[in-house]
Amino acid sequence: MLETLEGELARGRAAFEAAATLQELEDAQVSVLGRKAPFSQLQRGLGSLDESQRREVGARVNAVRTELTASLDTRRATLQEAVEATLLQEDRIDMTLPGRRPRAGSLHPLTLVEREVIEVFTRLGFRVAEGPEIEDDWHNFQALNIPTDHPARTMKDSLFVAIPGHPELLLRTETSAVQIRTMQSQPPPVYVIAPGRVYRRETADATHLAVFHQVEGLVVDEGITFADLKGTLEAMAKELFGERRRVRLGPAYFPFVEPGAEVGVSCFKCDGVGCRVCGNGWIELLGAGMVHPQVLENCGYDPERYTGFAFGVGIERIALLRYAIPDIRMLVDGDVRFLEQFGTAS
Ligand code: FA5
Repeated sequence: MLETLEGELARGRAAFEAAATLQELEDAQVSVLGRKAPFSQLQRGLGSLDESQRREVGARVNAVRTELTASLDTRRATLQEAVEATLLQEDRIDMTLPGRRPRAGSLHPLTLVEREVIEVFTRLGFRVAEGPEIEDDWHNFQALNIPTDHPARTMKDSLFVAIPGHPELLLRTETSAVQIRTMQSQPPPVYVIAPGRVYRRETADATHLAVFHQVEGLVVDEGITFADLKGTLEAMAKELFGERRRVRLGPAYFPFVEPGAEVGVSCFKCDGVGCRVCGNGWIELLGAGMVHPQVLENCGYDPERYTGFAFGVGIERIALLRYAIPDIRMLVDGDVRFLEQFGTAS
């Protein structure tokens, strides 16, 4: 028995020492100290020995178990350390490697154009004003001198908001509503632009969307004339389109201005001949005019003392012209291959 015991001690030590992984060590443990291992069988056989032998062999059994357990623990600690060292090595970070440059996105062409228009006008001394996209009948129509029988006031042309008890609320059809809010909030002189989203019940085509953007301009001061309006619009057109494009002003009717004008720019595609993009050679860019005295009065301004001009320009239309985009719908399709061509803001 003692011989077997010494043999098991030697075999166990060798087996633990030979284990190359924690799994192999566990297997060795089972084979040396497990329930079916010779060592355990021998332990169970102690009971059949007489007392003096049992004492002697029993003492040795205990000593061997202690030695084997110690040898097992030592090997386990060594293997565990090795595992940790490997993990650390794998997770090592080389702090000297250059960083990965994040992929910079690009700004939407409408954002670029809106910023550019704002920049042109703030340089001329205008300030930026804002108004809500959900407007009431008074700001969107009445105060702008739009009569109750005007077609824009029907469900056919405007998008009303279904808020119970508020039949007067609609999605603003033009940024002109901000003219009213601005004049109500401050005394003259006024030099503001108001960029923002507008909504119309319209079928989209190559030059129209149902949701689009405008920049409203409003100037009210003493002695403002139509020449100031024309000069301002020409300055804007030159800044945005350069000298190449031709600009034309034609008479137009808007209830909140008198006289009113419509301003078009020669088409970038056909240069005024007429094509699929523009129809008749011109891309209608904005409506404008001298602020109607009634509108000034509606906002508490004295029309005898003050005069002013206003305009409303379509941001999408500027983008079409600036970037020679053949179809306005491309601006809202969300095709990244199209959008990423416009670069980041300068
Ligand atoms: C107006 O909205 C007036 N509020 C403009 C105005 C302001 C006149 C101040 C006088 C004084 P109009 O509906 O023409 O006018 O639109 C103005 C501009 O918005 C157009 O010239 C065009 O550039 C753009 N626009 C109009 N409808 C659409 C549409 N469906 N899709 C894209 N752009 C449009």
